[in-house]
Amino acid sequence: MRVDQLSGRGAVVTGGGGGIGRSIALALADQGMDVVLADVELESAERVRDEIRGLGRHAIAVRTDVSDLADVSALADVSFKAFGDIAVLVNNAGVTWRPYRASWDASIEDFAWIMSVNFWGVLHGHRAFAPHMGRSGSPAHIVNTASRAVLQPIPGHAAYTASKAAVEGFSMAVRAEYAAAGLEIGVTVLFPGPVRTDFASSERLRSAADRAEAREVVPWTSYTRGGTVPTGADSAQAIDPETVGPMVVDAIVQDRPYVLTHPLPEHVTERARLLGAAASGR
Ligand SMILES: NC(=O)c1ccc[n+]([C@@H]2O[C@H](COP(=O)([O-])OP(=O)(O)OC[C@H]3O[C@@H](n4cnc5c(N)ncnc54)[C@H](O)[C@@H]3O)[C@@H](O)[C@H]2O)c1
Repeated sequence: MRVDQLSGRGAVVTGGGGGIGRSIALALADQGMDVVLADVELESAERVRDEIRGLGRHAIAVRTDVSDLADVSALADVSFKAFGDIAVLVNNAGVTWRPYRASWDASIEDFAWIMSVNFWGVLHGHRAFAPHMGRSGSPAHIVNTASRAVLQPIPGHAAYTASKAAVEGFSMAVRAEYAAAGLEIGVTVLFPGPVRTDFASSERLRSAADRAEAREVVPWTSYTRGGTVPTGADSAQAIDPETVGPMVVDAIVQDRPYVLTHPLPEHVTERARLLGAAASGR
């Protein structure tokens, strides 16, 4: 279901205070949308709010922890009250751990923290917003940020890869549900490859006692004799976040299920080949 009009309608971007979220928020404002910037770091959301106001659009910043359903429900109340009609929701807030660490060395708290933001944050967004979206009679759209890690698994990053695979699976099931139920809400999954942002410092957002630097963490590189470290924002393939926003706007307008910021990883082709072989019993 295509969103035929963005201009003059409301959008909400979680993790809108930085990097990719900021880029998407600015691109939506560039289409004439009014934007709610939701971020656990209020000051950064306020900075982007001011940038968007500078473009002549309405914008508000709301401190929101997406891992908390009550926070996201409050965000929905504030957003609908501010702009009446929310046509676009971007569930983009996400976190990662550093150093990369083996699944057997990561704590259960490490896994719970990553899942609570990356997967539950997306679920909370759907629960709080979807029942009220498209109520103006015009189609609406939800974008959920996953990662290329789903298409090309990263050793030392199992919780992150699992959380983003959950985002993809949930998004595609919900996209099919909305269509089958006749709800005019499209769903897109964004798979960013490496993008130059502050993402690697996510653990600053954890409680002091919970942070990696407060305890001994065995780095993944100790198993690879200092060898390959997964590709990150510092890799040669890294792109600037500014390029991502327009790709997302295009996918919303075209109701595309997927956005890839980088070429398709070879792993996807190999996976299809192995699945095909398995299906034919070879
Ligand atoms: N940068 C990359 O290379 C890359 C690659 C693949 C996927 N991604 C995904 O892109 C999304 C955006 O990441 P980014 O690279 O722009 O990083 P970033 O750190 O610059 O931006 C993430 C934003 O989310 C906010 N945030 C973190 N936890 C939150 C919470 N609990 N509630 C609300 N806000 C919270 C942060 O304050 C920050 O403003 C994430 O979902 C990330 O997993 C990034």
